[in-house]
Amino acid sequence: MKPPITGRTIVAGVAGNPVAHSLSPLIHNAWLEAAGIDGVYVAFAPDADRFEVFVDAFRSGAIRGLNVTTPFKEVALSVAEVVSPRAEMAAAANLLTFGTDGRVSADNTDGIGLLGALAAQAPGFDPKAGPIAVLGAGGAARGAVAALVAAGAPQVRIVNRTLARAEAVAGAVGAGAVACPLDAAAEAFDGVTAVINATSAGLSGQPGLDVPLEAAPETAVIMDMIYKPLETPFLAEARKLGRRTVDGLEMLIRQAEPSFQAFYGAAPPADVDVRALAMKALGQ
Ligand code: ATR
Repeated sequence: MKPPITGRTIVAGVAGNPVAHSLSPLIHNAWLEAAGIDGVYVAFAPDADRFEVFVDAFRSGAIRGLNVTTPFKEVALSVAEVVSPRAEMAAAANLLTFGTDGRVSADNTDGIGLLGALAAQAPGFDPKAGPIAVLGAGGAARGAVAALVAAGAPQVRIVNRTLARAEAVAGAVGAGAVACPLDAAAEAFDGVTAVINATSAGLSGQPGLDVPLEAAPETAVIMDMIYKPLETPFLAEARKLGRRTVDGLEMLIRQAEPSFQAFYGAAPPADVDVRALAMKALGQ
């Protein structure tokens, strides 16, 4: 049973639009219940063009913090007075915390989620061991590329349909990233240790990317940042080819862990299987 709401209940949440589909309330509230913490985690859907006003309302200290999801990750960075280096590098924030002085701090735990998912589902994977290919050049891809470069990847190959966008991300991240056109994906996959899909292709029943995964070495780990469906067409193809795979749900859970710590001041309890709960909610 969840502890009752009291006069001391710590409130945090997630802001997105739309947000009703978010699995974050399920994950955080399951952890709160298991840990017996007097806290609650709720979902907010502010108007798409009024995020700043929405955040200002919380500067009074009404809530402890917010996770931020589409389409607010970039604007979340711009409303904060304090920005962590990893949020700066990703050019986006997925975590805002409210100080008692009214200041907002922005952080980005998506990189921790990405690396944590790789470590959990592809044990022994070492980001430093060789080049990594990232598909896509939007906000999700930029965060992934920044985290991989920071983790010591010797080269990140940004493979995108629109080459100019890949070049822009490579330019922003600096040495260590190169841009490649999608129609040269086979060359980009040569010798990589991992291929990570950070495009929106394959989301919710949409067709997946048609890329020659067989051009990646047999030892390469194939990861998709999408978690709906859990097995995307991209991951299904990788499994068919016998490659090790890593899914987006693991990344979602792993990015939530440091957020929970930031909101409630404790690590998530290990004795609750939030992955099983989330899989059930996804209809698995
Ligand atoms: P986000 O911020 O969530 O990453 P985005 O900025 O809309 O979203 O970026 C979506 C990414 O998916 C882009 O890299 C996009 O490629 P383009 O830059 O060429 O538009 C990529 N993408 C989406 N659908 C695609 C498809 N069917 N084929 C190839 N790339 C696709």
